[in-house]
Amino acid sequence: MTHQFDTVIIGSGLAGLRAALEAAGAGNVAVLSKLYPTRSHSTTAQGGIGAALGNEEPDKPEWHFYDTVKGSDFLGDQDAIEIMCGDAIRAIIELEHMGVPFSRTPEGRIAQRYFGGHTKDFGTAPVRRACYSADRTGHAIVFTLYEQCQLKGVKFFPELFVLDIVIENNRCHGVIVLEISTGEIHIFSSKVTLIASGGYGRVFKTTSNAYVSTGDCLSILYNRGIPLEDMEFFQFHPTGLYGLGILITEGARGEGGILINGKGDRFMERYAPTIKDLAPRDMVCRAILTEIREGRGIDGKDYIYLDLRHVPKKTIKERLPEITTFCKTYMGIDPSEQPIPVIPTAHYAMGGIPTDIDGRVLMDEKGSVMQGLYSAGECACVSVHGANRLGCNSLLDTVVFGRKAGRAIKEEIGRDTAGKNKKEDIVGARHAVPLLERSKIMIDSILKCNGKERLANIRTELQDRMMEHCSVFRDEKNLKGLIESIRNLKERTKDIYLKDKTRKFNTELIDAIELNHMLNISEVIASSAIERKESRGAHYREDCPERDDTSWLKHTLAFKTDKEIEFRYKPVNITRFKPEERIY
Ligand code: FUM
Repeated sequence: MTHQFDTVIIGSGLAGLRAALEAAGAGNVAVLSKLYPTRSHSTTAQGGIGAALGNEEPDKPEWHFYDTVKGSDFLGDQDAIEIMCGDAIRAIIELEHMGVPFSRTPEGRIAQRYFGGHTKDFGTAPVRRACYSADRTGHAIVFTLYEQCQLKGVKFFPELFVLDIVIENNRCHGVIVLEISTGEIHIFSSKVTLIASGGYGRVFKTTSNAYVSTGDCLSILYNRGIPLEDMEFFQFHPTGLYGLGILITEGARGEGGILINGKGDRFMERYAPTIKDLAPRDMVCRAILTEIREGRGIDGKDYIYLDLRHVPKKTIKERLPEITTFCKTYMGIDPSEQPIPVIPTAHYAMGGIPTDIDGRVLMDEKGSVMQGLYSAGECACVSVHGANRLGCNSLLDTVVFGRKAGRAIKEEIGRDTAGKNKKEDIVGARHAVPLLERSKIMIDSILKCNGKERLANIRTELQDRMMEHCSVFRDEKNLKGLIESIRNLKERTKDIYLKDKTRKFNTELIDAIELNHMLNISEVIASSAIERKESRGAHYREDCPERDDTSWLKHTLAFKTDKEIEFRYKPVNITRFKPEERIY
């Protein structure tokens, strides 16, 4: 079946919803989601959204700007960061007016709490900058934006899986999707397509990411010739529940929680004497794993404790109810009585689809624009997070740059005449037909697979290898071995066996396609990590432990070729803050 919309948005997380709301001002908008829209991964965001409101103590957008640049290890593009931090206050007030139920101060203002790397006066002490809705901030914002989109007549299409993105002559014409419940293939033809499909943390064994975070659209675009930017930078969050990876919000430390090792020491005092447990995530993760490596894990094991026992019970009850439930349900412990066993967990992709500040997808290091294609949110790289994102800046990124992309789309659609729209739509559908055939062939061939490999085994091996060799600590030898393993796993996928040969709600078929994307993305991450011969932010090379601004103060762009991945570079946009040593 063919559908025609002015704007098609892939992903119903915060970036997609915020863009949809804006684009709905011109033409019709379809939001396509792999899930039911309100189950998108954005709903799991816990601790907060950053803005220098100054509701609890003095704060300034300029300090937020500085913290974000320093947090990014000076790889973030400062024009984009200045826009994000400068627009943050407006964005929060707007969300409040739309109906987001933020937690409140006793005076009724939006409450704010401490978060890692957010400081006052250019790094002198932590500052309360994260606005929150208990520890269910993402959930509160997603539901509010979803309601607003309904009011604006945005059309939602749940449980569609993207098979291909229609690109011809440097223009995107829409997407080809599989309707999961029926197995039918649809063409969504559009004048503008926005990719807001989230991250790909599922390539790692231990992750806070939802099962859907497999990087499908990034992999498809990469196969279609769009480069992927800064893929070596993948953030681990310091506090995942031990053995599970489920997120325990940084807000827990923002409310006074501390990290302790097997000797009972508050070890972050040694690594970041000024802001201690509230240091940026890359530093805290390395500190935790160093403690464990040096035998100071709990009982010498591979975890440490997040201790909230001294935090008032009322605070935990009111501001951290979600993580309290997680601790009780999954670990059988009450965090107000017992310390929480934690370990770093794969959390957030700093790299992704290169875009300009209005979300237009860029095709190369010179900034050439792919017509009709936009991207925002975690899958995009604008780049405001550089080598390491600060906590509570990702929700901000989604609503600021989702809105900006939506406005640019609205303008683009508005410039078009009604007659021209119609013609373009039909042309778009025509471009899609050969790809539709290709998608059908791909699905048929997967369903026929009768080999001897189970795809779950290949996926588990991939996740294990990525975790072992491409997580917080890396080195060239292990990365090279990892790439060999990935290529070997790719070969093995040619010999898989699918038990379910039906077409309706065939999750095994989806798993098989996702696995190919995960392998593709993992190869790019590992190759980008080999390429960058320095340590910066979340990318720590034990064989090149120093940051090297002379050679590596630049973004990497990974292009697919017939042979090896080709790397090109583009400069970091430095407007205000010169690189300095990162001391906290
Ligand atoms: O710790 C957290 O609540 C996560 C927040 C974030 O990634 O921004």
